[in-house]
Order: sequence, then C-alpha cells, then structure tokens
Amino acid sequence: MAKARATRSAVQAAQAAQGGEKLNAEQEAPQTGARAPAPSSGLARPERRAEDDADGMLRPRSLREFLGQRAVKENLGIFIKAARERNEALDHLFLIGPPGLGKTTLAQVVAGELGVDFVHTIAPAMEKAKDLVGILTAVTDKTVFFIDEIHRLKPAIEEMLYIAMEDYEIDWIIGQGPGARTMRLPVKPFTLIGATTKAGNVASPLISRFGITCHFSFYEQTDVEAIVRRSAGIFKVKIDDDAAARLARSSRGTPRVVNRLLRRMRDFAQAWHEETITRKVVEEGLSRLEIDELGLEKHDREILRMIIERYKGGPVGAETLAISIGESIETLEDYYEPFLIQAGLIQRTPRGRMVTALAYEHLKLGRDRRPEEPGLF
Ligand SMILES: Nc1ncnc2c1ncn2[C@@H]1O[C@H](COP(=O)(O)OP(=O)(O)O)[C@@H](O)[C@H]1O
Ligand SMILES: [Mg+2]
Repeated sequence: MAKARATRSAVQAAQAAQGGEKLNAEQEAPQTGARAPAPSSGLARPERRAEDDADGMLRPRSLREFLGQRAVKENLGIFIKAARERNEALDHLFLIGPPGLGKTTLAQVVAGELGVDFVHTIAPAMEKAKDLVGILTAVTDKTVFFIDEIHRLKPAIEEMLYIAMEDYEIDWIIGQGPGARTMRLPVKPFTLIGATTKAGNVASPLISRFGITCHFSFYEQTDVEAIVRRSAGIFKVKIDDDAAARLARSSRGTPRVVNRLLRRMRDFAQAWHEETITRKVVEEGLSRLEIDELGLEKHDREILRMIIERYKGGPVGAETLAISIGESIETLEDYYEPFLIQAGLIQRTPRGRMVTALAYEHLKLGRDRRPEEPGLF
C-alpha cells in the first residue's frame, strides 16, 4: 500500500479556516456538526462517543485489514487498481449504511490504497459556498474528499458540488445584484466520497453523480468474531473463541459496538484477575451491562414492552411512541429503530410501529399480551 503523502501545512491551515479538515492517516476526524443529542444510555449504541476516538489504533488501514463486507471490498479493490493503473482519480463513491459499520474507515482506507491525500469534513460544517470553494481549490491531485452526513448539505453547496463532481470546476459568484459575475475556477481531479445513514434524504441529482455506490449491511457473525479477535490482538488481551463468539452475538453486527464492548470486557477481566476473557467473563459482564443475547439494552427492551403493554403490540404512531419513551422522534428513528427492525423485533407499517411475535418471545411475554387480531402472527 502506498503511503499517503505528507500533509502540507499551508493547505491544512487554509482548509481549517474554511471549515474542512485535513487529516493524516493516524488522526481521527472530529465531528463538528450539530445533531440530535444521543440518548443517554447506550454502550451498545452504534453512534460515536468520545472514548471511540482512541479507536485510531483499531481502525483498519488497508482493504486487507478491513474485515467483512466482502462484496463492497472486492469491487472496490478492482476499481482502485484500475484507477491507479490509468493514473486517474477514482470515480466518486457513495457510502450508505447505519452508524458504526465502517463508512469513515473505508473512506480512509480508499485514500490509503490510492496513495492520495485525504480531506474530511461533515456536511453541516460547511455553512457557506465559500467553505466548499476553500476546500476544493486547495485539494491536491486525486485527493479523496470525504463528506460525512452528506444528506445534510445546504442546497447552495450541493449545487456547487454538482459541477465540481462532473467537470472539476466551480462557479464562484462575485458581487451582488445586476453587477454580479460568475467566475469558473478549476479544481484538481478529486474523488468525492459521500457517506450517509439516510440515503432517502439525499437529492437524486447528487446520487446520480456518484459512479460507485456501496451499501453497508450489518456484519455477519463470523466477521464480527474476526473483528473481536483482531482488536483483542491489538489490545494485547487474550480472548477465548467462544467468548469472542458470545460477545460478537451481542454486538448488533456493528464493529464500533463490538470494539466498545471488548473494552468493557477487558476491564471486567482485569478487575476479576482473569488473564483471559473467557465466556464466563463475557456472560457476567454483559449481564452487568444489562445487554442481552440479541444485543438489546434496557431501554430497547423498555421500548418493546411499552408497545406491547400500553399499545397492545401496536400499531402506534412514531410520534406517540417517542413521547411515551421520553425521546425525540429523531432519536427514536435514528438510534433505536434501525436495529430493532433489523433484528425482526418491530415492523414499520403505514399505521405506525408494531412489535413482532419474536419480540413477545424475546421478552418472554405470554400470549395474553398479544393483540386480538390472530391473523397477524
Ligand atoms: N470492516 C472493519 N473491520 C474492522 N474494524 C472495523 C471495520 N469497520 C469499522 N471498524 C471499526 O469500527 C469503528 C467504527 O467505524 P466507522 O468507520 O467510524 O463507522 P461509520 O463511519 O460507518 O459510523 C472504527 O473505528 C473501526 O475500528
Ligand atoms: Mg463515520
């Protein structure tokens, strides 16, 4: 793998001033955009927390180290090789998937594999068109420009990006009113990597300008086990195979979650004077954290119980449900629902949210709690 070129401080300063951030491969990107407050509980929540910044050491640096997501990886490997052979910038790349699955990591890996600079920003950090101009006019040849949460771009910036993506040029408007002039500024060929958890909120003209789209899915059990073993190796802690398997099962198919839980298990093992993280440590540890075999936390189970007990299993409107559990509707939709749906515990219907038969089973709630309509299950 070619090493990323050295960061140029002048460019870095210019970009910092413009709201972009230039990072070298060892740094973790700061998250500067305002967003819905993360729920207070949540070791198993996939969104980033301060502690995860220490994850720098766990982050895969190359496609070979990037475990799982085979389909995504294989194709990308081919496209990267082809672009390198032609000495061209890689086509623009769109990454879609829930938090914690490796979108930011993959963007950095792509820059590393291409041997080019990596510039990182988060859409809401770009307030004005000039913020984007500042970044794009400073990028080096074939730079990977990563925009996280790309569904949150301001319309004016989005339009400027269209031209930049297509023609490697930007239209810069000088002055105001009838005297205003448009200046076309050239931009070095670059690769835009846009990441989002909400592809539905991205405008179709933007989507259509990405040449490659990668959908991240929750990781397979065996891949999560491999990630646990890799991370344990980096931490230099021993973990039994069945302990790794047990931990992986409660990690929601999400690398960020499994790494976080591994840290906690390391703490427990240390506190209990165990040299190795055994299955017993994991089971006792997870039970202390109130995380069950499906990876649900107390609050997830409370949500399910609320739908069952107060709303007879649903359907209940998202708004009503959010109020009942004391969370905003955004938090409900962004943080709680994706995994509950993926795990087959709730369903979204046009009339609202409903729990499934699996939820009753999981919570060990009897048939008497089930809704009257027998046909549903
Ligand atoms: N494919 C992978 N293999 C190993 N570890 C991974 C992988 N993807 C992600 N990780 C780990 O999970 C953490 C979260 O990944 P990140 O790229 O920040 O997710 P996202 O940007 O999708 O929210 C990273 O710090 C990294 O340590
Ligand atoms: Mg990210």
